[in-house]
Amino acid sequence: MTQLFGKPLVTQEAMRSRIKELGKEITHDYQSQDLVMVGVLKGAFAFYADLVRAIRLPVTVDFMIVKSQPNQRKLSGKVKVVTDLTEEVKGRDILLVEDIVDSGLTVQYLTKLLSKRKPRSLRICTLLSKPARRQIDVNVEYIGFEIPNHYVVGYGLDYQQQYRNLPYLAVLDPKGMDAE
Ligand code: IMP
Ligand code: MG
Repeated sequence: MTQLFGKPLVTQEAMRSRIKELGKEITHDYQSQDLVMVGVLKGAFAFYADLVRAIRLPVTVDFMIVKSQPNQRKLSGKVKVVTDLTEEVKGRDILLVEDIVDSGLTVQYLTKLLSKRKPRSLRICTLLSKPARRQIDVNVEYIGFEIPNHYVVGYGLDYQQQYRNLPYLAVLDPKGMDAE
């Protein structure tokens, strides 16, 4: 598997130390709050598991399974919620945990959806951000890494449901790295 990808874009070591920092920051920011961490599956599963263990606070874990709808998504940003939260979030402090913010459409959609449930606060934490691809100006409070405009896999991220278990982040087609 490793041979398919050349050099990691983000190594396991870099991932580990950045997630530790994020955990400290979140621990500091959420003192005395009622933190509910909402993982967006499937992509966020690996990041989520590492991040939650880097946070030294009482935390409620919960998840949403979403599927983007390829044909409509580009226009509307509509994503299909396949499995919703199990917890009541009214009056609580939601931290939405994403794998990657690309156009921003998914995060915008989920933010709108969750806001309707009247949480006390709602912030976004993403492992990766591709600023060059942003179509919507979403406010992302916690960002692991800003990356260039390449399609990446590993560490939870997939290409056609494969490579999620790659333990580091890699560019899918390293030969295409210079192409747009
Ligand atoms: P957005 O709605 O355009 O921000 O896209 C977010 C979703 O697209 C992510 O949650 C991923 O599922 C997927 N995605 C975007 N870029 C990549 C990538 O480089 N690799 C894998 N999945 C990606
Ligand atoms: Mg995702």
